[in-house]
Amino acid sequence: MKRIKAGIIGCGHMGRNHISTILNNCRDEFEIVGICDPEEKEIKIAKNLFNNTPISCYSDYKEMLKDKGIQAVFISVPNFLHADVAIAALKAGKDVFCEKPIATKVEDVYRMLEAKEKTGHLLVIGFELRYAEFYQRMKELVEGECVGRPVIAWCKEFRGPFLPKVNNWIQYRDKSGGALVDKNSHHFDLMTWFLNARPLKVCAFGGTNVVRVVNTDDEVEDNACVIVEYEGGRRACLLLCMFSPETSDYGLELGIMGDRGRLETDKEQKALHFWMREKPEDIVWNLEERRPRYLRKSAHTVYNVSRLDVEGGHFGFLQEHKAFHRAIEKGEVPLTSIENVVYSTLIPIAAEESMRTGKVVEIK
Ligand SMILES: NC(=O)c1ccc[n+]([C@@H]2O[C@H](COP(=O)([O-])OP(=O)(O)OC[C@H]3O[C@@H](n4cnc5c(N)ncnc54)[C@H](O)[C@@H]3O)[C@@H](O)[C@H]2O)c1
Repeated sequence: MKRIKAGIIGCGHMGRNHISTILNNCRDEFEIVGICDPEEKEIKIAKNLFNNTPISCYSDYKEMLKDKGIQAVFISVPNFLHADVAIAALKAGKDVFCEKPIATKVEDVYRMLEAKEKTGHLLVIGFELRYAEFYQRMKELVEGECVGRPVIAWCKEFRGPFLPKVNNWIQYRDKSGGALVDKNSHHFDLMTWFLNARPLKVCAFGGTNVVRVVNTDDEVEDNACVIVEYEGGRRACLLLCMFSPETSDYGLELGIMGDRGRLETDKEQKALHFWMREKPEDIVWNLEERRPRYLRKSAHTVYNVSRLDVEGGHFGFLQEHKAFHRAIEKGEVPLTSIENVVYSTLIPIAAEESMRTGKVVEIK
């Protein structure tokens, strides 16, 4: 296996997660040769992770990109900087892993797609949940006979406020793109993956009603309801609350309802449950029995999460590093190559616009 020389751009919370995962579990795949962050404090904490092994440190990513020995970079900077940093890295000849969301503006998403096309280098986005066995099993079940034809997807995320970030960038809509873009791009990505259809229109309502951190007009929303209309009569709905006292995994639920069955996550139990009718026509109302003829076929725990699945604190985090390496070494197309996950970000950008204008927004 070829060991790829890598640079880390952005050494805050997520950059350090990448460093630790590589140092602890992907040493055969990557060798980190440089780290970059304009904040001295963040560089210092990151440098300590290397236990006195010499490492080149940069405050300007453009300087780091001049190092011809660096073949790949991991970008974990605030969302509004993703496009400029990723494009510069692609143009410098690097294969790029960029954290989610893709960007905060539609034009930046397209600029990144174009740069990837033109340079021919990899541009992989950090939607690690797609690499988690848990969600891969869910995808398999949707593609099998479990739900029949998928019609509705839903996601409920009830959680507490965002963790503090360097200079509080995440609390400002112009820097993070808003809570729906930053956080729920993960869930719009999964729902679109499961429904396997093109999203057409989005409408959303939301606001900042409880959580105040930076107290500006630009503060990210703390609650929202979003509806997405897909081609082929498929729909998705997302409900976000960021002031829930609930802090366990129970706060996140995802589900898919098809013409044949229902599949949903149970993150507290680390399980997937599904219910399925024997025959599609069983959905009619039976007057004699005074209930719909609904045949509960199964309610199964079908999957239990392994320790490795939550490495780095996120389902699929370790696997996404291994997949990035396979893409570089073997040319495997990664599940989260930018063109495969483009709606993850275009949907919540449209939802943010809908919240502000009160209009239904089309996805072009
Ligand atoms: N995949 C996930 O589940 C997940 C989880 C958390 C965060 N993220 C993403 O990771 C990215 C970083 O988030 P974070 O939580 O680490 O934030 P953070 O604030 O902890 O770290 C961001 C770092 O980027 C640095 N930075 C700013 N401008 C830079 C520049 N020009 N060059 C180099 N470094 C620069 C900051 O100084 C800071 O150290 C964001 O895009 C975020 O959405 C992804």
